[in-house]
Amino acid sequence: MPDRAALVTGASSGIGLAIARMLGEEGHGLTVAARRPEKLAEAVTRLRDAGFEVEEVAGNMAEEADVQRIVAAHRERWGRLDVLVNNAGVGVGAAVADTVTKRIDMQLDVNVRAIILFYRECAELLRAAGADHRNALVVNTSSLSGKSGQTWLSVYSAAVIGWTQAMNKELNGDGIKSVALCPGFVDTPMTQFVREHVSQDQMIRPEDISEAVRFLLHTSPNCVVPEIVFQRPGEAI
Ligand SMILES: NC(=O)c1ccc[n+]([C@@H]2O[C@H](COP(=O)([O-])OP(=O)(O)OC[C@H]3O[C@@H](n4cnc5c(N)ncnc54)[C@H](OP(=O)(O)O)[C@@H]3O)[C@@H](O)[C@H]2O)c1
Repeated sequence: MPDRAALVTGASSGIGLAIARMLGEEGHGLTVAARRPEKLAEAVTRLRDAGFEVEEVAGNMAEEADVQRIVAAHRERWGRLDVLVNNAGVGVGAAVADTVTKRIDMQLDVNVRAIILFYRECAELLRAAGADHRNALVVNTSSLSGKSGQTWLSVYSAAVIGWTQAMNKELNGDGIKSVALCPGFVDTPMTQFVREHVSQDQMIRPEDISEAVRFLLHTSPNCVVPEIVFQRPGEAI
């Protein structure tokens, strides 16, 4: 049984899968969660083939009961939580006059509300890890558009960085650090729509993000890194 455990949402592809792989390399037992079961199962096969111990839970992060089920499965399998990665997310571009309520709700439910629910459901486990080694870590995937709100991506830009700052103020004393990751275009399925304008080899790699999280694992308990911005050359905020 690994002596550290991590829960990664949105782990079936892209940034979440790269972070899950890195956490496996760093000796964590993994719980991976995402929406579509078949896609998640494929990712889990690859993680297990790489030698990692993996608990797999499909669920919709927009559903409170699914969030609770995912955390319960993690607790049952590993009994501890050293790293929580709130990475599942969706972006639906629209001008403000064209925003559709259903799409606003979906983005806020998955990108913001689910993060809040995961903190609440995981607070006890994270506090136990913080008491153990003062280095429990929560990673929240925001975006460059969270640093500097972008037209068309206005709903997508909301809230995660402010929430992360609040959690550092509330939980650092319990040995729990939070970080917001703020990348520009990363080469994942999510950015397929933009490849006509920005080619894959001009994008940030998922491994650039996972290596940054690896660095966070090795900072001392005295060092909090509240956010990390990943820009492409010339992509100033
Ligand atoms: N790629 C970029 O340029 C970029 C830039 C800034 C921030 N981000 C953020 O980075 C995070 C990861 O995105 P990515 O680029 O790695 O894209 P991705 O490869 O499409 O991964 C998104 C992950 O989130 C899961 N997911 C989406 N909606 C869900 C829901 N309702 N319930 C449960 N899981 C759900 C997906 O599972 P299914 O496929 O089964 O839905 C998938 O595992 C997202 O929060 C995204 O907003 C991405």
